Formats: sequence, structure tokens, C-alpha cells
Amino acid sequence: MCGIVGYVGPSLDSRPMDVAVGGLRRLQYRGYDSAGVALATPAGLHVVKRAGKLEILEAALFEASPPPATAALGHTRWATHGAPTDANAHPHIGGQGRCAIVHNGIIENHAVLRQELADQGVVFASDTDTEVAAHLLAAALEQTGDLTAAMLRTVARLEGAFTLLAVADDVPSTVVGARRSSPLVVGLGDGENFLGSDVAAFIEHTRQALELGEDQVVTMTPQSVKVVDFAGQEVHPRPFTVDWDANAAVKGGFPTFMNKEIHDQPDAIAKTLLGRVDQAGRLQLDELRIDEAVLRRVDKIVVVACGTAAYAGHVAKYAIEHWCRIPTEVELAHEFRYRDPVVDEKTLVVAISQSGETMDTIMAVRHARDQGAKVIAVVNTMGSTIPREADAALYTHAGPEIAVASTKAFLAQITATYLLGLYLAQLRGTLFADEVRAVLAELEAIPDKVGDVIAGEDRIRHLARSMADIGSVLFLGRHVGYPVALEGALKLKELAYIHAEGFAAGELKHGPIALIEPGRVVFVVVPSPRGRDQLHAKVLSNISEINARGARTVVIAEEGDVEVAGVAGEVVYVPQTPTLLAPLVTTPPLQIFACELATAKGLDVDQPRNLAKSVTVE
Ligand code: AGP
Repeated sequence: MCGIVGYVGPSLDSRPMDVAVGGLRRLQYRGYDSAGVALATPAGLHVVKRAGKLEILEAALFEASPPPATAALGHTRWATHGAPTDANAHPHIGGQGRCAIVHNGIIENHAVLRQELADQGVVFASDTDTEVAAHLLAAALEQTGDLTAAMLRTVARLEGAFTLLAVADDVPSTVVGARRSSPLVVGLGDGENFLGSDVAAFIEHTRQALELGEDQVVTMTPQSVKVVDFAGQEVHPRPFTVDWDANAAVKGGFPTFMNKEIHDQPDAIAKTLLGRVDQAGRLQLDELRIDEAVLRRVDKIVVVACGTAAYAGHVAKYAIEHWCRIPTEVELAHEFRYRDPVVDEKTLVVAISQSGETMDTIMAVRHARDQGAKVIAVVNTMGSTIPREADAALYTHAGPEIAVASTKAFLAQITATYLLGLYLAQLRGTLFADEVRAVLAELEAIPDKVGDVIAGEDRIRHLARSMADIGSVLFLGRHVGYPVALEGALKLKELAYIHAEGFAAGELKHGPIALIEPGRVVFVVVPSPRGRDQLHAKVLSNISEINARGARTVVIAEEGDVEVAGVAGEVVYVPQTPTLLAPLVTTPPLQIFACELATAKGLDVDQPRNLAKSVTVE
């Protein structure tokens, strides 16, 4: 997820640059590993871009003292293709400075287009998918002589999710934008107009906006805003007035980043799934550059991670062992390297990390590689240390996760490890192609199901507020519900500072049941009755045992599970999913509960006490 800004104004001055940089400041939450601006001037385009935080770009702009301009593009990046470097920062130039482009999204067919352009003699300056669009646009400009027509030709070649903004050297008072499955809004000013990934880009200048629809191209000058669909037919977007304050706009209208990121989860899963299937319908993980023969010889998998990321690894264990029949261990990274693990060249180590900078996990990766193991990093942050030191990376595309307690990254990590498991099963033949496609089809349906769960949040929030004074809370789960119980307990600890503990439900009678007393709140993640039916029956009897001792049970169960209603205190139903995919829908209710209970207690859910977003020390 990146932040993009477009501006076109009535005069030749520094306002375009000021508006672009100011907009990028408000959009930094969307991405902050590199930034850049393109200025359209009568003498041509002027581009300044730098890796690193926005202030590095601002220092470069101050030093470069760029010329006055009439239009500007701005971009703050969350890298998906190409590490965060000056060269990979946006804007990207097409046709020797003929045009400049900024992009938010993923161009799925970038590799094919890149080869086509290279065969035509195009020399690329970056590793990004975006630069492909810049060169396509330049070529189309030569053919059409019109920026709007050129954009229409360009987007006709692209597959994937993208928002593109472009300027051209011969029309310095025009900005053209296009969107497909990626946000873009227009800000309407007086003699000036704005474009942004969201209203935060321009809310300090205007609250009058236009909402662009799917597959639309907008042509913006100081006096006009024209919108056409990808077929070139004029459309009339809906105007609206932004009623958020500037601060709320940075959070997309949500009160906190935590709330925003819980709601971002369907998109985080969808983006992590994007572009993973080739033309023949086979799973492709093009960034997973480990020799297939090596992967076929793997006889053990060890997942190393910390905290929430480790719980994602626990979910992955069930899926990978079921699909691939490879023994899979999950190790807390800080324990892994001190227990003298048995690791060799036939061990595949999977390091899961949102930040890619967790020192415990970095040290585990180094230890594993010293022992000869191959390491795959499942990471959300491009250009971070763990993917750099691993043999290969499989990126989650959850976008920047600002709240310290992880939510959308967790579901994206689970999604990515499912893809890894399916890829290994496809490669080793433990699943037939149709079986892989069947699971992928189920995964494609998950974002909507997670959206349905989140749509039912009010009831969960009401339940949380009714329990604002609870003490210690237990979380029980079985099979893939067990790591969900661990994560639910961690969320409550992190956000509401309430002691909570997650258990495997089968462990209850081996001790933890001594904790059950009248009024004790116990969350139970119930496995599907359509899966291993005996597990479902056993968990129901666990619920009866704790009910009999006066506990208050809150049960997460799948729609249609009527049996559970007879034994549970409260039931939160979630959409039916295949057994192994259930954590993606059973986790959000626990996140929402913890977030709302903490809010009811007046706590800061974005930056809880004592916690750091990335633990970069051991
Ligand atoms: C998540 O809610 C926690 N903040 C923490 O457990 C986190 O998952 C852990 O520190 C690992 O971080 P990483 O994913 O960036 O490696």
C-alpha cells in the first residue's frame, strides 16, 4: 500500500511541490520506505526521489531547490517489487523524461511486459513493476500525442490492482490518473484540483471530493476534471463532502490505526493472494528463488518466529503437514538457536516476521543458515534484514501495520504460509493440481468472509463493553483453533493489559480446569463439525465442563453449528470455511473484542504500554 498525491494549479510557483510534500506527510502511514515527487514545469519534468523516510526527500528537495511548477505528483512507498532504494522509489520516468508515473498496487503481469519492452530496446533503471507502466505510457504518448488516450492504452495492457498518476512534459498543467482495485479520490479546489490515495492527501486544502469508480481515468487541469471509463466513455463520479478532521483522515476515518487495520484485513488477504497463479492455473511464487530440486529433498520444516508471527507458524504447521506430509516444527526464534537444534541441508527454515527486523528471528535465521539449512522469509516489509539474509522471500502484502499489536499482518502471514504449503504440495505432488486449485478457490473467497465477520463487529464490541471489568481470561482452541486461542490471549494481554492464557482445549483437564470458577470468562474456538467430528464433540464437552463450574463462555463457532448454542453462554458465529482455513475467520472476533475492551478501559490501542512495534534487540 503506498500513498500518492497529484496536484495541478493556476500558476507557476512552489505550491505544487508544497501540496505534494504536505500530502505525503499525511499519507506516510500508507508507506514510508522511500518517497519522491515529480514537478511539471514549462521546461519539462523535474523528479526528486530518495530511499528512506520523507524527511530525507525533503532535505534533498531543499538542497536541489527545484524550479517552480504548475503540477506535481508525490509518492510515499511501501515496497512490493524492488527493495527500497533511490532507483526503485517513485516517480518512475518513461521515454527519457517524456512522462513520469506514480503507482499504488501490484501489476501482476509486469514480468511479461518488462521482457516485451526490453526486447524493444527499453533499458530499465529500476526493479519495480511500476517502471513497466511508465515506459508503456511513454510509448503510447508517442502514438497518440495525448496523455489521456495514452493512459487508456496503458491500462488496457495491465493486469492486477493499480492506481496510476501521470504527468507529461508537453502538458505541464495536466495530471491524469487511473484506478483499478486500488483507491483514488479527487479533491476539488478553486482554480486548482487534487488527487490522492485517500482524502488525507488534500483535506487541508479542500473537503469537496469526487469518488472515482473501478476502471476509470480522470484528466485534471486547474479548471476541469473529466472522467471516462476504460472504454473512453464519459462518466460522472459521485461528489461528496469530507466530514473527517485532518487527523481522522490519516486513519481513513477510523478512530485508531488498530480499528483501521482490523478493517483492512480482507484487503490484506486479497493482496497477499494477488498474482500467485499463472496462466495455466498453477500456483507460482515468483519471488521464491530456491531450486525446486532442493525443495523436493526437504525432509523437515522448522518455522522460527516470535509472538503473533509464531502463532501464524502454528497454523501453518497444521496446513503444511496435512498438504505436504513434511514434518513441521514451530520454534520460538529465541529458543531455537539455544536448544542446539538438529538442522541440516535438508531442513527448510521458514522465518515469519511482519517487520523483518526482529533480532531474535534474525539470529535464528543466521544460525539455521550456518547449519546448512535453506531459509524462506515470510515478511511484510520489503528491504528489511530477514528477507535480505534469507535464501528466498515470500512477501505478505498487508501494507504498513502501524498499530503495535499485529492484526492484518497476522492474517496475511497465515495466508502466505498456506500459499507456501500449497506450493510445496504442488511441487512434491502430495496434492493434485485440482486439489491445489480447490484450496486456492476457497482462499479467494476468504476476504469476503472476513468482511462478513467484521461487519458483525457491533455485537462483539457490545459484549466487550459488558465485560470491561473482567479479570483473567482463558482462551481454548483445538487443532487450528489452538493457535487462534493463543493469539486471542496475546491480543487481550497487549491491548487491555488483562492476564489471559491460551490453551489447547484437550489440555483443560490436565490442570487448567483448576482455574475455572464462577464468573470466569472463557473464550472457546470451536472446530467445525464438518471437519474431524470427534474434535467438535470433545470441545463441546469441554464447554459443558466449564459451564458446570460457573464459567461464562464466549464461543466462536461456524454458522450452522446449532449444537453449540445449547451449551455456550454467548456464541459468535463466523462463516463456514474449510477446516484448515478457519483461523482467518475465527481470529477477527477476538481482535475486535480485545480492541473494544481496551478502548472501554480508556487505553491506547495503537501504542500499548511497554511494547515496541519491532523488537530489534535480543
Ligand atoms: C504482535 O501483536 C506483537 N506486537 C508481537 O508479538 C510481534 O508479533 C512479534 O514481536 C514479532 O514481530 P515481527 O512479526 O515483526 O517479527
